[in-house]
Amino acid sequence: MTADGSLPNVAVAMSFLIPSRTLRPADDPIFALNAEAKARAQAGERVVNATVGSLLDDEGKLATLDGVNEALHELSPQVVAGYAPIAGSPDFLRGVALDLFGDRPEAKMVASVATPGGTGALRHAIANFLEPGQSLLTSSFYWGPYKTLADETDRNLETFEMFTTSGGLDTEAFHTELSRLVKKQGRALVFLNSPCHNPSGYSFDDAEWKRLRAAIEDVSAAGPVAICLDIAYAKFGAQPLDVMLDAMLPIANKALIMFAWSASKAFLEYGLRVGALVAVQPEEEERRRIQNALVYSCRGTWSNVNAGGMAAIANILLDSTRRARIDRERAGCIELLQRRVGTFNDLASKAGLRYPRYDGGFFTTVFVKDARAAAERLKADGIFVVPQPGALRVALCSVAERDIPRLVEGLAKVA
Ligand SMILES: Cc1ncc(COP(=O)(O)O)c(C=O)c1O
Repeated sequence: MTADGSLPNVAVAMSFLIPSRTLRPADDPIFALNAEAKARAQAGERVVNATVGSLLDDEGKLATLDGVNEALHELSPQVVAGYAPIAGSPDFLRGVALDLFGDRPEAKMVASVATPGGTGALRHAIANFLEPGQSLLTSSFYWGPYKTLADETDRNLETFEMFTTSGGLDTEAFHTELSRLVKKQGRALVFLNSPCHNPSGYSFDDAEWKRLRAAIEDVSAAGPVAICLDIAYAKFGAQPLDVMLDAMLPIANKALIMFAWSASKAFLEYGLRVGALVAVQPEEEERRRIQNALVYSCRGTWSNVNAGGMAAIANILLDSTRRARIDRERAGCIELLQRRVGTFNDLASKAGLRYPRYDGGFFTTVFVKDARAAAERLKADGIFVVPQPGALRVALCSVAERDIPRLVEGLAKVA
């Protein structure tokens, strides 16, 4: 306290924060843009808000699945109020393995823990498969929080060029960068996000998965390579997840194949915070070590995951009738999204927009020269998109079909 009774301005003289934390930006840029779009809409302006990563219906209301809502309401207060096991409820983890692998033998070869959404799974992957100071590898277009998660755990992020000049996945660049990182660090952790990559909308095809597999197989001879497959949008891909599984599971005895599973998009339950990290490991002793390390990480971060959320999702995953109902309801949402994707593809190709192959999913990315300036110009016209280096992320999941012509027209003016 100073002589006049006010608090001294300590921030000027010193910071209580450790130096690496003093310049952290408070706002997630996407959430900040969304807030601005909403404020302008509330003030009466007709805005197109293509920033939100949640599926909204054509009236702008958050889409949810009735079967999930019912499963949540059926829970007893004791289930919701009680602590869940640190690793996650066994039923939930069994349900996730079933959802991922069906009756494949890998379902019985997993180390797995429940996590708050896919984000928690990605966090645990970084903390357990990289040393502090080492770098995670991902594609040059990537979901921004990958970098935040790396920063937060004192790791770094490096990228490989995502696209070749002809617009396909640059698997050669991947091979080169993976090999370089393993030489430099003695190990590697890779995040691969497909289907429906955020932000580009791209889904790897069968041939691309096989080329990725060959590269991983080759490099894994030089050191431990852990691959975390971020399948947040798995249910929205044009191809079944089997395409990825068929390509990647055969090398599970050479590299560590992991899945960041999330209920956020699959069950349209973003706020429930339910997810899992699932690592396939045929070797029993190593599997036990991984399981122990992951459970330890749970205890050392969030302790345990939302008990009610896990119970509701487990009740759906383990009951074939409920699961079939959710699949039907989700199919309606996918149809809504696919209509938007179809309209966008039609108009955007006529308008000459440059963007990667887009056959489904929440986002696409339009290539532009100066993304920041382009996003500002669009914003002035009431169109909100997210600038990325060299591109604008367009969240079709939150744009009504009737607004897509205006959106494409705006994009064409700034592209
Ligand atoms: C690429 C990607 N990975 C993972 C997630 C994880 O989301 P959550 O933590 O809500 O499950 C998201 C959500 O937006 C995402 O876009």
